Amino acid sequence: MDLSLIVRGIIKKRRTTPPEDFNGKKVDHQIVQEILDAANWAPTHGQTEPWRFIVYEYAKVSKFGQLHAELYKKNTDPDVFLEKKYDKLLHRADKASHVIVVYLKRTDKKNIPLNEEISAVACAVQNMLLVATSHNVASYWGTGGMCYDPSMKEAFKLEEEDLMMGFIFLGKTQNDDLAEGKRNSSIGDKTIWI
Ligand SMILES: Cc1cc2nc3c(=O)[nH]c(=O)nc-3n(C[C@H](O)[C@H](O)[C@H](O)COP(=O)(O)O)c2cc1C
Repeated sequence: MDLSLIVRGIIKKRRTTPPEDFNGKKVDHQIVQEILDAANWAPTHGQTEPWRFIVYEYAKVSKFGQLHAELYKKNTDPDVFLEKKYDKLLHRADKASHVIVVYLKRTDKKNIPLNEEISAVACAVQNMLLVATSHNVASYWGTGGMCYDPSMKEAFKLEEEDLMMGFIFLGKTQNDDLAEGKRNSSIGDKTIWI
């Protein structure tokens, strides 16, 4: 089969799938290793390779839910604290096979602007999501909840200038189904050819 057709097919097939839609089946450890390896091949200005990962696998994913929910409870004013949100954070990963915490490690090469380091980590994440899709693994890249709260950085022992980049939930869906993708406008509307 034409390689370009395969790559473009995977790019279009990739969908953000809420972890609540996973079916609870596990993804092979080896596949997740491949997904991580794909991250390491992202473009990187100055070879800084700023992507970093913390992986919760199988039974450990509940620890992620507990950590996230407790950070929310401890760091939220009781006046605005919502039990419903606490429960959602606690149970979000219940049907996930893996949760991968993604962060950016700011290296000593400060001549590389931060926006380029963020770009490199985002490319690493996209590599991961595409390899996941190629294995019929459903994925969700989320930055909600306490992702950007200083307490999250502290929990994972990030340094001051490092950045949280989100959480990737991986799992399986019934019959490997993924939702249809949609875009608000075509690429033609976003491109000028000179
Ligand atoms: C940096 C980043 C952060 C995101 N965070 C969230 C999030 O917190 N919650 C969520 O539902 N989706 C999140 N998404 C996924 C988007 O909602 C999703 O990409 C968009 O709806 C397009 O759908 P698609 O990924 O299926 O093409 C995030 C995407 C990116 C790139």
